[in-house]
Amino acid sequence: MSTPHKVAIITSGGDSPGMNGAIRAIVRTAIYHGLEVIGFKYGYQGILDANYVEMNARSVSGILQRGGTILGTSRCKAFLQESGRKQAAANLDELGIDVLFVIGGNGSMRGAHELLKVWDGQVIGLPGTIDNDCGGTDFTIGYFTALDTALESIDKIRDTAEAFDRVFLVEVMGRKAGDIALGVGITGGAEEMLLPERPCDLDQVVERMVLSKERGKGSYIIVVAEGAYDGGAPRLAEELEKRTGYACRPVVLGHIQRGGSPVAMDRWFATRMGAFAVKAALQGANGVMVGIEKNELVTNPLEKTWQENKSFDPFIFEIQPMLSI
Ligand code: F6P
Repeated sequence: MSTPHKVAIITSGGDSPGMNGAIRAIVRTAIYHGLEVIGFKYGYQGILDANYVEMNARSVSGILQRGGTILGTSRCKAFLQESGRKQAAANLDELGIDVLFVIGGNGSMRGAHELLKVWDGQVIGLPGTIDNDCGGTDFTIGYFTALDTALESIDKIRDTAEAFDRVFLVEVMGRKAGDIALGVGITGGAEEMLLPERPCDLDQVVERMVLSKERGKGSYIIVVAEGAYDGGAPRLAEELEKRTGYACRPVVLGHIQRGGSPVAMDRWFATRMGAFAVKAALQGANGVMVGIEKNELVTNPLEKTWQENKSFDPFIFEIQPMLSI
């Protein structure tokens, strides 16, 4: 293995708060070790367009507290084709890149894995997504900020729900992953959480709503993950109102969950993972994603990020009905 001289960074897929912290940690650790750094703009698309900026220690000043990503991002369709990836490989070679750091979710990690089939350099992934749906790490960069953002809204919804004794259905992000719904459901004291990973039995939901009202509870909050019910919270609210006769109001939180200044936990993970990714690259790691497992920094093969199905702690499901009586 030859020693790397020049590295590049992209942020790809849905942005997440803390991506900037990871960029900062990579840039500064790399420069500290004498490496040249560039950042491609707008994810894989930037590699295809050779759209990049040279980065120095000052280019990442003042970004640790900023949401979004200073490099921009995209969901790059051309990169799904082998021809696109070959073009990217040629551009990386042309620019003399030895290592590419990819900060993104499991789709971006798949892209990184495919790139390595046609490119001879090193690729290191970092898990950046609010969805927390990457295998090979306990938490992804951005998850905790998204939880706090959604939680703040749920707390406010609870006030008005109590004032009217109403049912609210709050839709949170996560087309295929229920981590945000579960996280805010528990920390926001929701009566019900509907997740894509668990089939939604409407009869049981109705039964629990009626029981709760009979027990004298006024407000009732159902957190619905984006992918848990066809038509999302708006359709489910109509259906439940029809079945129960209770006033049911849908609220779709949407993209506000992706924004905002990263909370300490996301800055903490981003900084540790960013610096660790550079160290791993210098030691010759390739085709891996860095992660945090049991509070230890680890590397895992890229495939693990989409092949491993992280299961939820069954204890949460055991206690949730107890907590919402
Ligand atoms: O980044 C992940 C995510 O926010 C998912 O939770 C959501 O389903 C999706 O991205 C939305 O993507 P887009 O912004 O492209 O509509």
